[in-house]
Amino acid sequence: MKRALALSFVLITAAACNRADAPPSRFGFGRAATPAEIQTLDIDVGPDGVGLPAGQGTAVAGAPVYAAKCATCHGSAGEGTPIAAALVGRIPNDSFNYATSTGGDRRKTVGSWWPHATTLYDYIRRAMPFDKPGTLTPDEIYAVTAFLLAKNEIVKDDFVIDATSLPAVKMPSRDRFVADDREKSNRVR
Ligand code: HEC
Repeated sequence: MKRALALSFVLITAAACNRADAPPSRFGFGRAATPAEIQTLDIDVGPDGVGLPAGQGTAVAGAPVYAAKCATCHGSAGEGTPIAAALVGRIPNDSFNYATSTGGDRRKTVGSWWPHATTLYDYIRRAMPFDKPGTLTPDEIYAVTAFLLAKNEIVKDDFVIDATSLPAVKMPSRDRFVADDREKSNRVR
């Protein structure tokens, strides 16, 4: 009797394993995403600018956008607040030397350590304003990107940022990053 019980336990366990190994081909919930839905999420912009939409903006146009939609969290001059990080970090004339700047100035900001200007567009488009992501127009994003680049003394206030000029902006920290040369990797570290 004992042996028969043990045997049936083994059989039941084996049956349970078989079920787990072969899940149903459909779970009966969800649906395929529509091309329009995929398009709203397919918004990444590469370092080379692939993925940037049409549109343009200058720092002059970006100043009121920044003041209205970013300053409450990041500070009126991008200096940061207890809520959100500093976005402007350049000490005049110190050439963003992160490694040698002193004390509290060693903050990582867009100006002092981001290697690609295009990341600004990508990041702001997908994630900012933090409480209302996805609400900015392409022109507003270009303008606020231009504003942050100008505040970091990387471009002039009237420099037009668009899909062609943004990838050509060389960030001060660009050469502090190297391509990751491990096999099958195209990442940057
Ligand atoms: C409600 C507060 C809030 C508002 C408004 C806001 N941000 Fe942010 N922002 C944040 C927070 C919080 C983070 C950090 C998010 C994280 O690390 O996941 C952040 C991060 C960022 C970063 C990345 C900083 C870094 O070096 O990692 C950028 C760039 C940025 N915000 C730009 C903007 C711009 C441009 C606007 C206006 C269009 C904006 N933010 C509006 C809260 C805010």
